[in-house]
This record gives sequence, structure tokens and C-alpha cells, in this order.
Amino acid sequence: MTLDAYHQLLERELAADDPWSLDGSSFEQARYAEMLRMLRCNGGGALSALEVGCAAGAFTEMLAPLCVRLTVLDVMPQAIERARLRATKWSHITWVTCGIQRFSTDEQFDLIVVAEVLYYLKDVAEMQATIRNMVRMLAPGGTLIFGSARDQICQRWGHAAGAETVIALFNESLSEVDRLNCHSGSANEDCLIVRFRKPDDSSEQSNVGH
Ligand SMILES: C[S@@+](CC[C@H](N)C(=O)[O-])C[C@H]1O[C@@H](n2cnc3c(N)ncnc32)[C@H](O)[C@@H]1O
Repeated sequence: MTLDAYHQLLERELAADDPWSLDGSSFEQARYAEMLRMLRCNGGGALSALEVGCAAGAFTEMLAPLCVRLTVLDVMPQAIERARLRATKWSHITWVTCGIQRFSTDEQFDLIVVAEVLYYLKDVAEMQATIRNMVRMLAPGGTLIFGSARDQICQRWGHAAGAETVIALFNESLSEVDRLNCHSGSANEDCLIVRFRKPDDSSEQSNVGH
């Protein structure tokens, strides 16, 4: 998919009342419920989190009360504007308009959530570079929740790759802790959600010499 086609597609969706039917679809709401269940498996605690690709803020609204600090990023200014309007009651959110492939900060997040976003990247090489960038921003012992439609569906939509390809790339540097298949009867509603953990520096050190 060309960069132009990709931006037009996102612009069209983000002009809709309910972009990607994220609020109205029972499949999407079930997907969010599973993502929340997975991130709660961490045992809660004070979280500094990054949400990548907020669309109109449907998941932002669920994530915000679980964090002490939340950075919300989207490549489209329309998405950030819509999500920001929806989340005015929270003052602990930092809004960033930027592609995740270019985003950089010295902050280390306890939690990164990146769902239904990475298949918009140009090719597998860009996905791999972006994954390295996100892993760098994840604190040791931190959790990353990844979600995506499967490879076959993403390729049918015109993207380079989807869930299976990206999960293999994440597994090069993170440990997979939990995986779930979320699907419905519809051919477009079949995704994988995975919880990854970044190895803790201390657990690496404690293994030295054993
Ligand atoms: C299908 S929506 C997914 C929304 C939400 N994450 C979810 O799981 O329902 C994809 C969102 O990712 C954003 N997006 C696409 N490419 C991106 C990129 N390179 N960096 C950051 N956000 C991106 C789009 O603008 C859109 O808001």
C-alpha cells in the first residue's frame, strides 16, 4: 500500500462517527476486554504506559484509569484530537502526534499497548525497526500487549504482514507470556492478542555464574 493510500484510508475512517466501529462492534469490545484482562494479569500497580494508535480514544478511555502516567500517540492529528476530547477528565495523559516508527523518548514505560497498528507500516523491515524502537522504550520487567489481525487477513487488506509475522519479530527480544485468539464468524474478525514481558535486568544478572 502506498503512503498516500494509507493516509487516505486513515483519514476516511477517522472522519466516521465511530471509526473502525471500535465502540459499536461487539467483536471490538470483546477484544478490548481481553486486552484489559491481559494487562491486569500484571497484578496492577502504578503504571507508566504508552498507547500506540489511539484512533478516537475508545481504548484510551479504558486504559487511562489504570495508569499513573499515560502517553498516547497516533500518526494522525485527527485521532489525537478526537481522543483528547473524549478524555478531558484525565490530566495525566500526554498526547503525541507522531508515527511510532519515528517516536523517541528517554522515558521507559512499564506498559506499552500496540493493537491493530503495526500492519500499517510499509514493509517487514520497517516493522522490525519499529519493534526495536518500542522494545528500547519498555522498562526491564515491563509488559507489552500486542494485537493484530492475522497475516492472511492483513495481506488481503493490502498490508505487508500481520499478527504471526510481528509476533515472531517481538519474540526475538521479548518473552511471550500469554496468547489468545479472538475471532467471530466474520472473515475480517480474527486476531491474535499477545502479552510479552521484557527480561528483567536483575533476573539476567542473577543467572550469571549459575
Ligand atoms: C485500527 S485503529 C486501532 C485503534 C486501537 N489501537 C485499537 O486497538 O482499536 C489504527 C490506529 O493506528 C493509527 N496509526 C496508523 N499507523 C500508525 C503509526 N505508524 N504510528 C502511530 N499510529 C498509527 C491510525 O491513525 C489509527 O488511529
